[in-house]
Amino acid sequence: MDGNGRWAKKRLMPRGYGHQAGMNAMIKLAEYAKMCGVKYLTVYALSTENLSRPADELEGLFNLFRKYFTKNVKKLYARGSAVKIIGDLSVLPQDVAQVVSDGEKNSPADADFTLVFAINYGSRAEILRAVNIAVDGGKKLDGNAFEALLYTGGIPDPDLIIRTGGEIRLSNFLMYQAAYAELYFTETLFPDFDEKEFDKALNNYSGRERRFGKI
Ligand code: FPP
Repeated sequence: MDGNGRWAKKRLMPRGYGHQAGMNAMIKLAEYAKMCGVKYLTVYALSTENLSRPADELEGLFNLFRKYFTKNVKKLYARGSAVKIIGDLSVLPQDVAQVVSDGEKNSPADADFTLVFAINYGSRAEILRAVNIAVDGGKKLDGNAFEALLYTGGIPDPDLIIRTGGEIRLSNFLMYQAAYAELYFTETLFPDFDEKEFDKALNNYSGRERRFGKI
C-alpha cells in the first residue's frame, strides 16, 4: 500500500493524513475484491523495517489501529469474511497488539473471503522464525511441513502481487510465497488505487500465461 505519504504531501497535509486515506482505500478495495471473487487479499500494513520510522508517524499508524481496526473487523465478520494476521505483534505497543490479535479470534471458519493483515511482517524474519522452529523440532522437513511453519501456513500462495506508488521491488513481502506470483506495479499512489485501478490490475493479470516452470 505504497504512496500514502506522497499522496498527503501533494495535498500539503501530514503523512498521517495519507495513511488514513490509505486505510479508507483499503477497506473499499477489500469489499470490491471480495465481490470480484478474490478469496484472500493480503495487505502490507506495516513492515518490520517500517518500525524504524519517526515515532510520531508510527504513533499515528498505531492510532489508526486503535481507533478503526475493531470497527472494520466487525464489518468484515458481519459479511461472513474472516481476518488473519501475519507478522510479529510482540514488539508493538501492548494495546495495539491486543486489538489486532483479538481481531482474528472470532473469524468464521467457512469464510469465502479472508483479509490478511501483514503487521510488523517481513519475509526474512518469517523464514528465520520457521527455520528456528524446525531446528528446535530436530527433524528434517519437506516443503509442506516447512510452509505450515510460516505465518501464512494454511493460506494459499498469492496469484498476483500489486505494488502501488511506483517502486519496482518486493521489499521483504511474501518472498517465499511469491515464487510463482504474477507481479503488477503501478505509479498510482495507494489512496488513489480504487475499483477501476483494481480492474486494470486484474485485466493485466488475466492476460498473463502462467506456466509454473513448465512449457
Ligand atoms: C506505505 O506508504 C504505507 C504504510 C507504511 C502504511 C500502510 C498502512 C495503512 C494504510 C493503515 C492500515 C490501517 C488499519 C487500521 C488496517 P508510505 O508511507 O511508504 O508512502 P510514501 O512512499 O509516499 O512515503
